[in-house]
Amino acid sequence: MKGIVFNLLSEMVEEKFGLEAWDAVLDKAGSEGLYVATETYSDEELLALVAAGSELTNIPANDLVRAFGQYMIPRFAEHYSVFFEGHTNLKDFLLTVDSVIHVEVRKLYPEAGLPEFTYDNGQPDKLTMMYRSPRKMCALAEGLIEGSAAHFEQPCTIHHEVCMHKGADHCALELEFSR
Ligand code: HEM
Repeated sequence: MKGIVFNLLSEMVEEKFGLEAWDAVLDKAGSEGLYVATETYSDEELLALVAAGSELTNIPANDLVRAFGQYMIPRFAEHYSVFFEGHTNLKDFLLTVDSVIHVEVRKLYPEAGLPEFTYDNGQPDKLTMMYRSPRKMCALAEGLIEGSAAHFEQPCTIHHEVCMHKGADHCALELEFSR
């Protein structure tokens, strides 16, 4: 994971729980906490920080990761506004994640660990996003979708029965848009 992800995580923890909380997380995870935005750090380090945060706050790790996904979108909308401009609705935006957004991210950071999304777009008010990644961060994907829904002010429900954590080879994120 890129340093930018770690920097956003520290920002979220400091904002929601205070500076001492982030220091405690770093202590518990045995991390130094110095992250350069464009450098790559191990996925294990991110997982260790999430596990430490979860233990210290008593919030399940999945919920923390999901909240982190929600938190990221307004920051992305600021730093990478070009990906949001030109879209007036959530579905059109989500359809560009795999073929546009992450393609551009890969050009900026060739060694980025990015997931693969394929889509089932059979009905106007629905979209299924098939998520595949060795990192199995479907909770982050859910949070990013929820953050995007808030950004476009378009409520959407997520059904997530088929899941890599339940033995499937992908996660099916079945979205339903209410308008
Ligand atoms: C403008 C919007 C977006 C930008 C700029 C962006 C960029 C990125 C970046 C920089 C990473 C980290 C790569 C690394 O550290 O190695 C990442 C990972 C990820 N992104 Fe996006 N992303 C965006 C939107 C989304 C959305 C809407 C979704 C979900 C539908 C999504 C799903 C994910 C997931 C799940 C990962 C974690 C890595 C994995 O699962 O393998 N992204 N993205």
